[in-house]
Formats: sequence, C-alpha cells, structure tokens
Amino acid sequence: ARIFMLVVSPCLLLSGVAKSLNRLEYEPTWESLDSRPLPAWFDQAKFGIFIHWGVYSVPSFGSEWFWWYWQEKQRPEYVKFMKRNYPPDFKYEDFGPQFTAQFFNASHWADLFQASGAKYIVLTTKHHEGFTLWGSQYSWNWNAVDEGPKRDIVKELEVAIRNRTALHFGLYYSLFEWFNPLFLEDQFSSFHKRQFPVSKMLPELYELVNNYQPELLWADGDGGAPDSYWNSTGFLAWLYNESPVRDIVVTNDRWGAGTICKHGGYYTCQDRYHPGHIMPHKWENCMTIDKVSWGYRRNAGICDYFTIEELVKQLVETVSCGGNLLMNIGPTRDGIISPIFEERLRQMGTWLSVNGEAIYGTHTWRSPNDTVTPDVWYTFKPKENLVYAIFLKWPTSGYLFLGEPKAIWSSTMVKLLGHGQPLNWTSLEPSGIVVKLPQLTISQLPCQWGWTLSLTNVI
Ligand SMILES: *[C@@H]1O[C@H](CO)[C@@H](O)[C@H](O)[C@H]1NC(C)=O
Ligand SMILES: *[C@@H]1O[C@H](CO)[C@@H](O)[C@H](O)[C@H]1NC(C)=O
Ligand SMILES: *[C@@H]1O[C@H](CO)[C@@H](O)[C@H](O)[C@H]1NC(C)=O
Ligand SMILES: *[C@@H]1O[C@H](CO)[C@@H](O)[C@H](O)[C@H]1NC(C)=O
Ligand SMILES: *[C@@H]1O[C@H](CO)[C@@H](O)[C@H](O)[C@H]1NC(C)=O
Repeated sequence: ARIFMLVVSPCLLLSGVAKSLNRLEYEPTWESLDSRPLPAWFDQAKFGIFIHWGVYSVPSFGSEWFWWYWQEKQRPEYVKFMKRNYPPDFKYEDFGPQFTAQFFNASHWADLFQASGAKYIVLTTKHHEGFTLWGSQYSWNWNAVDEGPKRDIVKELEVAIRNRTALHFGLYYSLFEWFNPLFLEDQFSSFHKRQFPVSKMLPELYELVNNYQPELLWADGDGGAPDSYWNSTGFLAWLYNESPVRDIVVTNDRWGAGTICKHGGYYTCQDRYHPGHIMPHKWENCMTIDKVSWGYRRNAGICDYFTIEELVKQLVETVSCGGNLLMNIGPTRDGIISPIFEERLRQMGTWLSVNGEAIYGTHTWRSPNDTVTPDVWYTFKPKENLVYAIFLKWPTSGYLFLGEPKAIWSSTMVKLLGHGQPLNWTSLEPSGIVVKLPQLTISQLPCQWGWTLSLTNVI
C-alpha cells in the first residue's frame, strides 16, 4: 500500500502523509508485530522497579492472590485468618474502602525510585482482582477514584515520575479477572463469547494508553484464553501504529495463552525467569524482594526478604545474560513503602552509583561468566573496547584469576571502579589474566556487595 501511494500521488508526500503511511507499518498478525524493533531505551535501562499495589494490600496476608486462595481454593490458613479477624459475612469487596492510601505521596515514591538507580517503573494498574488504580469508566465502583483513596493513583504517580525524575513510566495490566461474571460466562462458552474483552478489557487498555501514555505496557493474566479471544494483535497493531506512544512504547509477551516467551515485545517467559545463559531475544527477570509474595504482607519475617548481596547477584547475572531486572516491592494499604523495601532500594542505588558504568547501556560479552573463578560476571561496551568483570567475592589471596579474557601486552589496562588507579596484572597462557587487587581497608572499599574491574583492550 505504501509503494502504491508513493507512485500515484507524489505531490501528497507531505510530512503528514508520510506519518500516516508509517502508521500502516504493522498488521494485526504476530509475524508483523514481532518484527517491530524494541525501542532502544529498554535494553539500555537494565533495571526497573515493579510495584504491586491493590485491595490485596489491605488484608496484606499471604499474598496478592488472597481472594483466590481464600474463596476459590479455601486454603485453611486464609479461611482461618478471615474467621479469626472478620465478621462472618465479610466479603472481599469490603476491603475496598479500607484501601485508604492515606500516606501515599507520589513525589516521595518517585524520589525513592530515582535513588534506587532504576531507570523505569511498572505499576500494577489492575491485578486479577479487577480493582483499577485509576477511575476506569468500565470498572464501576471498583476503582480507586470511586472507592478507597478516592484519588487517581495512576495519574499522581505519572505526574510525579515525569516531573521529578528521568525514569520511564510503565504500567502493568491483568487481562482477566478471577471473578468477573462476564469473564466467567465467556470462559463457560470456551471463549466463543467475547463479552469481557469487548466491554471491559479492551476499552480499559485504550483508556490507560490514551490517558497515561505509558512507555511500557506489561500485560499479564491470560486466564487460559487465546490471544484471538483478547484481540491482542488488533490492540497491539493500534498501539504500534496509531497510539500516542507508538514510537516509544515497549511491551512484554503475556498477550494470551501460548504467546509467552514467543510473541510480543521482550520475553518474560515466567515469573523469576533467569535462563543462566545469553539469550538472543531481549528478556526480563521479574522477581520480588519478598521471596513469597508480590503484594505487601504483614506476616513476612526478615528471612523472607532477599539480602542486598542476593539482589546485586540477581542484577549482575541477569544483565550479563542480556536481561533486565524488574525488582518488585509491595506498598502497604496506606501508601507506605516499608523501611525494609526502602533500604533495599537505596542500597541498590548506592551500589549502582559506583558500578552503574558496568550495567547501564552495556551489551553481553562472548561469555556471561568466567570459566575459572565462580561468581565473576561479564558485561561489554564494544565502542569503548571495555569489558567489565563484576566479581561478587573478594579473593582472600588478593589476586583475582580471570580465565576468559586475553590481555594484550602494553595495551591492556585494568582498573577497579570507584578506585581509579591502574592495577598490575600478569597474562596467563593460553588465555586469562591475574589481577593484583589493591589492599584496601573496609572503609576504603568503593562498595561492599560486589566490585567491578574495567578491562580496557582485552580480547
Ligand atoms: C511529599 O513528598 C515530597 C518529597 O519527599 C515532599 O517534598 C512533600 O512535602 C511531601 N508532601 C506531603 C504532603 O507530605
Ligand atoms: C508537573 O509539571 C507540569 C508541567 O510542567 C505542571 O503543569 C504540573 O503542575 C506539575 N505537577 C506537579 C504536581 O508538580
Ligand atoms: C480487534 O481490534 C482491531 C483494532 O482495534 C479492530 O479493528 C478489530 O475489529 C478487532 N477485532 C475483533 C474481533 O474484536
Ligand atoms: C558459569 O555459568 C555457567 C552457567 O550458569 C555454569 O555452569 C558455570 O559453572 C559457571 N562458571 C563458573 C566458573 O562458575
Ligand atoms: C605494580 O608493579 C610495579 C613493578 O613491580 C610496582 O613498582 C608497583 O608498586 C605495582 N603497583 C601496584 C599498584 O601494585
């Protein structure tokens, strides 16, 4: 169609026409949609913050799947929790008004996310419970503007992120809803009926994109229905061709049963995905600081939270294999990011302020980790001819053996990030180098949870 128009009406080739021609670029087929290059900012960003916040943050017990485990699965600990603490006729919907967000200060959140060193955030605008954090026209009385906070949470966070930080603004959206009667009816018809996507899910997605212009759309929860039921390809063609974010928006791969790890933008494959080797297709490891739950839960103990050493390891391993890390926190029902999450976020920021050079904007190297020393992970900046070796254990000998890089006599230079002085090294045969690390006191160490050698001119 493009060539035809170019030929018959060259005089119409004004910028507006060129633009509208561009808009025809993607067809509503996976073949066409999958050919879209991922906007470059995403691979450069490497590290994002996931935020699970909703009505499940009110009971804040067990997990964000509270409603399902309590009523559908009738798990004993959930049933007991309700019996012990709530009147017999108490419904999940009654938690709605208690989702107050009293202390929610979007500016405060934005400043904290910035301090974490993250380059994007992803907020759950609606989880499987169906409650929307914006005043959806299609979620009558089950949204944050009509009930609970009586505030447009998505808008407040958007404004704060965009006014105060350089972070990219991303939104999570669950396609299905556990107990929505329209969805259940469609499901009963083996998804021959399409009432739920037509009257709820698709209108909400268009509303979200048009009102909040997310730079990342993180779909989830296909409910066992194929992408044809959701009309995901029709929606994505609009998103990529015509939407206000068509040039910058990044999407994931959860657009219907069978699309995960196969279609869409970058791959998430499964929660906490980590292939352990370099993947050619861009991917993301979404994980949560609370090892058990994505939503806030009061019954978490200190051992349930990953330590900063474990989180730095996750980040480094993920980036060395070509992924991004999306690290989740769960705020409380009143809008507080608890001090344990705040500490982890600030610690990541501290670590990245020294080692970010080896993370942001890097590429994978020929090998993600070292062949001799465990817990050494590589990243690469081809233009600068720099290989970064991030090591998570400081060797007691004071010498770090690297089996993978080959040094070039008189040209290779080795430095410790945050230290700066060139370090002495010797070459090994047939490959590898031994680096003499500086002798530093604890207070002289540039950071405490992992260190980076920059290797200039190695092969
Ligand atoms: C919200 O947080 C910002 C940044 O920390 C702060 O300047 C502001 O005073 C806070 N607003 C309220 C109402 O507490
Ligand atoms: C955010 O920035 C816009 C445009 O500069 C401004 O109109 C708006 O008042 C700002 N909002 C806040 C909450 O600072
Ligand atoms: C799917 O979405 C596209 C784009 O909005 C629309 O043109 C098409 O009619 C939709 N198809 C169905 C079956 O809903
Ligand atoms: C490098 O990583 C691979 C894959 O995770 C692993 O099998 C191998 O043992 C690692 N190498 C070292 C030296 O730890
Ligand atoms: C590097 O080696 C040279 C020559 O042996 C020595 O003079 C120098 O002190 C060493 N530097 C460091 C930082 O170990």
